[in-house]
Amino acid sequence: MYAPKHPGPRVGSATVYLIVGLPGAGKTTRAKELETSASALRLTPDEWQIALFGERNPSDKRDLVEGKLVQLGMRAAELGTNVVFDFGFWGKDERSALRWIAGTVGARSQVVYLPIDHEEQRRRVTNRFATTPAQTWHMSDGELEQWRAQFQAPDDEELLGSQIPPVPPEHTTWSEWASQRWPSLPDQYAPTAAISRNSTEP
Ligand SMILES: Nc1ncnc2c1ncn2[C@@H]1O[C@H](COP(=O)(O)OP(=O)(O)OP(=O)(O)O)[C@@H](O)[C@H]1O
Ligand SMILES: [Mg+2]
Repeated sequence: MYAPKHPGPRVGSATVYLIVGLPGAGKTTRAKELETSASALRLTPDEWQIALFGERNPSDKRDLVEGKLVQLGMRAAELGTNVVFDFGFWGKDERSALRWIAGTVGARSQVVYLPIDHEEQRRRVTNRFATTPAQTWHMSDGELEQWRAQFQAPDDEELLGSQIPPVPPEHTTWSEWASQRWPSLPDQYAPTAAISRNSTEP
């Protein structure tokens, strides 16, 4: 349940960037640009996953890593630091949940979508695995196709930062939804007087 442990947010002072796209779309490249241009804290789960688990890339551990990075990043945003979540965010619900949580900590949010077609994606991931194998994993053609079928591209409302959809009916809040999606993320976010700020700045 809600149990804020820290003093209230410095309202509206930070932007949370949600980087959306398939493998090879250029997410980490863009996240590093924002790290510099927006003085943002960049949170790239792949770097943690590789450091902790190497080649194995276990998906259950990934959810735990991501949850702690969400908690860390949202606290940084609450303290006024811009944050880049370099996660991919294939699902609309994931994006809605983090946009909502960003609002509860007094931050703006911006969905940054990097589309990529299959041929270019295959070219990039093949080239990257050949040149920097320690920073990535092998990805087969079959995997790339399967992931593309699962991916939900952001719609205009998300890209423009307009209304956040209601939480699915079996959940009470997006905070609770997020704590189930990322089990290491506490269900600790609740709306305050200043919520749901979004940014459409570039
Ligand atoms: N705009 C671009 N044009 C051409 N090549 C690019 C562009 N952006 C990134 N790349 C190259 O494509 C490859 C993949 O980029 P990057 O690692 O940023 O993708 P990613 O979306 O983070 O992938 P992953 O989901 O696997 O982490 C890299 O070799 C990078 O140098
Ligand atoms: Mg990446």
